[in-house]
Amino acid sequence: MTVLKLFGIIFFCGLLSPSQEVLSGLSCAVSPRAMQNVLSDAIIHNGLLQQHLQGLVLPNIMGEGGLLNSPTSITGLHLVQVRLPRLSVVLLPGIGVQLTIGAKLQLSGKCLVGLLSELIDILVDVNITANIKCTNFESGTVQVVTEDCLCILGAIKIKVLSGLLTLSVNEMVLRQLTATLPALLCPVVDIVMNLVNIQLLGTLNAVIPVGTAGTIHYQLASIPYTSGKFLGLDLDGAVKQVGGITIPHDSSPSALPPLMDRLLLMVMRQSFVNAMLTLLLRMPPQTFPCTPDIFSGANRLHETLWTIAPAGCSTCRGTSPVNIRLTLGGNPLILLEENKASVKLSVLVQVFLNRLDGSVLNLLLLKADLGLNVRVSIVGGRLVLRLALRSTSLSLESSDVGISNISILKPHCSSLLMETLLPVMNGALSIGIPLPNVLGIPLIKVDVHILAGLIVLLV
Ligand SMILES: *[C@@H]1O[C@H](CO)[C@@H](O)[C@H](O)[C@H]1NC(C)=O
Ligand SMILES: *[C@@H]1O[C@H](CO)[C@@H](O)[C@H](O)[C@H]1NC(C)=O
Repeated sequence: MTVLKLFGIIFFCGLLSPSQEVLSGLSCAVSPRAMQNVLSDAIIHNGLLQQHLQGLVLPNIMGEGGLLNSPTSITGLHLVQVRLPRLSVVLLPGIGVQLTIGAKLQLSGKCLVGLLSELIDILVDVNITANIKCTNFESGTVQVVTEDCLCILGAIKIKVLSGLLTLSVNEMVLRQLTATLPALLCPVVDIVMNLVNIQLLGTLNAVIPVGTAGTIHYQLASIPYTSGKFLGLDLDGAVKQVGGITIPHDSSPSALPPLMDRLLLMVMRQSFVNAMLTLLLRMPPQTFPCTPDIFSGANRLHETLWTIAPAGCSTCRGTSPVNIRLTLGGNPLILLEENKASVKLSVLVQVFLNRLDGSVLNLLLLKADLGLNVRVSIVGGRLVLRLALRSTSLSLESSDVGISNISILKPHCSSLLMETLLPVMNGALSIGIPLPNVLGIPLIKVDVHILAGLIVLLV
């Protein structure tokens, strides 16, 4: 309960200043911890950094420093191995992601002291710190730039077989590496971050099929931003029906509820969810004979109809089975309130007979305004809405057999809709709303909360 209360507190990210035109059906807040996991996986664990540092060649080192201060030169120095790389992340408000990569670099080369040439191994601790900034936002893509890149060298260990090196060689090597490593390592960090940007932010930009109903095109709606607590991503989702018609939504970015101690927060805005619901519930009219195997109350509905039709409908009785056609009228309307999601939807209920001459006799044409409760869950990484009928309000549109008072039909219609329409709608909704791939963070152990105007997912 307290968690939900806290959600009510409006949390302004100081740097978010979205322009009013930006459509953002969905926004995410990624925690520093999640960023660290994501970037560690992308840069360290899959070997990307090592791969780009492999074979790095360092300038020769010359100086006085060998035994008895004889001239010393180290040549052919190259990187052999990146040992124990690790990565940490700090989010700097308004600046971006501050990345620190720590590692032990194992270098190897040839060392000439006086006339003696031998192999030299150097092991040096280094921390590379750089600020990664997003820039040049254009149609859903951004570029990253690496700024303020620093390399801080720590302990250094030098090994030669002869052991003929003095401490002053250590100092000389450290001095030279301090001067040369930043210009070698920082461009590698830049290259690696550009690749990671394409890999991670590129996957946000995707067209995902929604069953056979249509597609949803997710893409960044604006440039990612950082607060001290999270990396913020506003995404737009363009919902397209098969055939290419876009179902519009007017969602615009809004303040996010707090991320608490979670990895990822994703909010979906009401208008966007409504567009998805509209897409999934675009279904052809459902026509079926009103028989007990399809609708358990079929016989009772028949009896009631004959009772309320003036003259008992002598002309139509027994001629052919009564048919029912259910047509969704207009678009569904979802309403998200604190801890509650509901949908309003109207359905045309046509109860009719096909006469022998081929014409149609409308016993009843009703409009049913449904109030539905919605259960929201995550199934297989998709957002699934499930409807349950809460209320039905009926109005008579027309009747060819003179029926004028339909109040007695209400329970029959409710059970008719419950038994025939709801399973079809829930079947259509079970495809689920595909969610964007946010930095590859898997949507497992997701808590779903409903707030005013928002569906909130916490990973
Ligand atoms: C590198 O960073 C780590 C963690 O921030 C720190 O413990 C270590 O002393 C640093 N090493 C150097 C060489 O600065
Ligand atoms: C309609 O029928 C119900 C009972 O079937 C009755 O209570 C109600 O008064 C009727 N309404 C009108 C307007 O005739």
